[in-house]
Amino acid sequence: MKNVGFIGWRGMVGSVLMGRMLEEGDFKGYEPLFFTTSNVGGKGPEIGLPIPPLKDAYDIDLLRGMDVIVTCQGGDYTSRVYPELRKSGWKGYWIDSASTLRLDEDSIIVLDPVNRPVIDRGLAAGTRTFVGGNCTVSLMLLALSGLFREGLIEWLSTMTYQSASGAGAKHMRELVTQMASLAGAAGDLLTDPATTAIQIDEVITRELRDPSFPSDNFGVPLAASLIPWIDRPMESGQTREEWKGFVETNKILQTKEPIPVDGICVRVGAMRCHSQGFTIKLKKDVPLDDLWAIVDKGNQWVKVIPNDKDSSITHLTPAAVNGTLTIPVGRIRKMLMGPEYVAAFTCGDQLLWGAAEPIRRILKIILEYLS
Ligand code: HSE
Repeated sequence: MKNVGFIGWRGMVGSVLMGRMLEEGDFKGYEPLFFTTSNVGGKGPEIGLPIPPLKDAYDIDLLRGMDVIVTCQGGDYTSRVYPELRKSGWKGYWIDSASTLRLDEDSIIVLDPVNRPVIDRGLAAGTRTFVGGNCTVSLMLLALSGLFREGLIEWLSTMTYQSASGAGAKHMRELVTQMASLAGAAGDLLTDPATTAIQIDEVITRELRDPSFPSDNFGVPLAASLIPWIDRPMESGQTREEWKGFVETNKILQTKEPIPVDGICVRVGAMRCHSQGFTIKLKKDVPLDDLWAIVDKGNQWVKVIPNDKDSSITHLTPAAVNGTLTIPVGRIRKMLMGPEYVAAFTCGDQLLWGAAEPIRRILKIILEYLS
């Protein structure tokens, strides 16, 4: 029986992964071993099976005994352990949710509903390192997979509305703390019918600009505001999050002719769903009905939402999509710029398809390949 080591299963992405694996009955057919960076000998997660106490995630000899390692521990762990493990001659399969190895020549970025042929070719050719993609890129590719598969996209601009979860667990808490702080500042003004919206706004603005406003993690207010910058600057003037759009899309699809992808990435006050507004330049004029059908058939999770108000505000929002695997795509229409220009909007759970789900699925694919 194969051994699979899990590292970083307690963190946010790791715990979503564990939840999905339990839901899908994925702890079968192999020997799972759980590791820790801080609690050796402690108790592992409840997976419906007896499991040994937690092992040391820095114990290279023990890690060397694993056929597959799945880590959601983060980039620092990968940077410290992966090179040493490979240098020791370990030939096992490394599955990672961190970005550290994404652009390594030897790695494949996994998003199997979109790039299963790339994954299968990689496995056959001996690739042993599989990395989850950037959440925004993965969610965009799932939404538009039909158009990519048909080779219809000449270029793509995506303007993002990214949730707090993309920044981390502490940031999610801080967003809610900020909301509570604003609600607290508004206090009785909210319930007093004599108060005007302008009076409430004055109080809220004062609170947002108060140096004691809770913003240790974001650095600035996100609630009642937004942050038009994600990650570090690149020389191009893009942020790294924007830069990844082009680089990762083309690596995931292994395009011969790179498809330009660019836009502005913005953090908004959603909890765990990233939304994106697309401007798509098609290679040719395709009738709208055909476009809808192509998008809808992209994969089993994508769902075209009719371009009307009720459907859009009901089905195409973080409030509707949070915690689900559905990838709604709506607001699909031709733009004024010409018949080859198409607008669309999508929303997807950043912790599921954006992080844990591609990792869960590649583990299954590798175990099937090894069996
Ligand atoms: N970098 C993304 C974000 C999340 O900040 O929203 C991880 O892919």
